[in-house]
Parts: sequence; structure tokens; C-alpha cells
Amino acid sequence: MTTPTVADGAVTDSAAAAPVLSLDRVTVGHYGVPAVRELTFEVRPGEILALLGPNGAGKTTTLLSAVGALPLMSGQITALGEPIDHRVERNARRGVTLVPDNRGLFHRLSVTDNLRLARRKGGPQVDVVFEYFPKLKTLRGRRCGNLSGGEQQMLALAKALLTRPSVLLIDELSLGLSPVAVQDLLPRLRSIADEQSMAVVLVEQHIDLALGIADSAIVMHHGRVALGGSADDLRASRDKVEAAYFGRLGGTDTPG
Ligand SMILES: Nc1ncnc2c1ncn2[C@@H]1O[C@H](COP(=O)(O)OP(=O)(O)OP(=O)(O)O)[C@@H](O)[C@H]1O
Ligand SMILES: [Mg+2]
Repeated sequence: MTTPTVADGAVTDSAAAAPVLSLDRVTVGHYGVPAVRELTFEVRPGEILALLGPNGAGKTTTLLSAVGALPLMSGQITALGEPIDHRVERNARRGVTLVPDNRGLFHRLSVTDNLRLARRKGGPQVDVVFEYFPKLKTLRGRRCGNLSGGEQQMLALAKALLTRPSVLLIDELSLGLSPVAVQDLLPRLRSIADEQSMAVVLVEQHIDLALGIADSAIVMHHGRVALGGSADDLRASRDKVEAAYFGRLGGTDTPG
């Protein structure tokens, strides 16, 4: 049985480009207990990979390992041609940026101050992200803790963009958001990925919305790939996605 290389054939424009992030048979977990086993995937510039799966499937563990925050039990992760190691700060400076599921915001500080803190020397000015999220400009003096969930998520994304990521790993963009807010945010993410040739790994609970903007997707179950393929193929095999999500597909599979 072959492990699906979900990026293959998923994107026409970026298919020729080298992967920005590659996981090669990665096994990783917590306190010596594997939570993700033999996970292999690649993302290329401008490609959005949706990482789907039920609670406890290993999605957050995967993202944490990709930024170097969890030691691998086996396998290798490569970003921008170099292995990812435990130096999380250095990996971030190299352009591997995580938007954590708690959003990583300073609630007592204003929108502008949150953005200023995220700015890197020589990186984009704070104003640049207001072009992507004009609403944040109108809220720039507001305390972050007084923003709505959707506005906070915009701010979390805006902060991440100020680090000029080559690969952006987003954990549960839609956590606590209404479907309307998610429908607003995800297409923006798509445009930004296209404009900046930024690779994205998107952990998302709204399967259909995620498949609507992603190029490729993986459904994880109990730490393994239950299903992987292009987002188009998975949209066309929605019943299989459902089965994989609930662990009713026998082992690794590709749609078709
Ligand atoms: N800090 C931790 N210590 C011990 N076990 C952990 C820790 N974090 C996660 N796990 C375990 O690892 C497995 C994968 O968890 P993970 O958080 O990666 O899942 P997830 O797919 O992100 O789930 P969710 O959708 O609930 O966020 C689960 O069995 C979980 O209990
Ligand atoms: Mg999680």
C-alpha cells in the first residue's frame, strides 16, 4: 500500500516547485506515546493543504512537530530544504509560522500593539496587513480582548503574516467562529496564499469549507492518514471523507 502524496497533482501552478514543507514517515507523540504514525505529506508554495480529522486524531501534534516544538520519534521534517530541529525560534525566523489554536494574542494590548510585537526587523510594516484585513484598521486602537472571535482570528492571521511566512500552519482557524465568519476568512486565506505564494497547512473542523479553498487534503484518524488526495477528488468522494473521518475506511486510501 502506498502512502498518498496528497500534493501530487493537486495544484497545477505550483506542482513544479520544490516543497516548502515535507514530512517523511513522521512518528511523533507525547511522553513516549505516539500520537501520529508514519505521516508523509508535502506542501508547495501557494498550496493549501487541509488537515482534517476528529478530536484526538493528531492534527495539533502534527503542527507542533512541524515547527520543532515536539521531538520526532522517527522520520524527518524538512522545511525550505533544511531539516526542522527543536530550535522553534530559529524555525520561525526561517519562515515556518504557527497560528496556535489559542490564537497567541495579548488580550490587554491594542490591535496595533499586538501587530507591532509581531513585526520582524526588515519585515513588512503593520499597515501592510490592514490591506488584507481593512476591518482591523478601523479597530486598531481597540483592546484585543474586546474584539469578537472572528476579529481576533483576523488579528492572529495578520500577526502571522507580519512574519512573512513561507509556510503557515494554522490550528483551527474557525474555533468558536460562526460559519459566516469562517466563510469570510477562508477565501481571504486563499487569496493571500495565492498572492504571496505562501504554503498553508490548515487544520479545520468545517470539512466542506476547508475542501472549498484547499488544493489537497488529508483525513487523519488515530494518528494515521485514513484518506488523502486533491481537494477536488475528496469533494467528489464526500462519503469516503465522512467514512475516513469516523474511522470506517480500512487503512490508508486514496479517493477514486
Ligand atoms: N500534551 C499532551 N500530553 C499527552 N498527550 C497528549 C498531549 N497533547 C495531545 N495528546 C494526545 O495526543 C493525541 C493527539 O492529540 P492532538 O491534540 O494532536 O489531536 P487533534 O487532532 O489536534 O485533536 P482536536 O481536534 O481535539 O484538537 C490525543 O490522543 C491526545 O490525547
Ligand atoms: Mg488540535
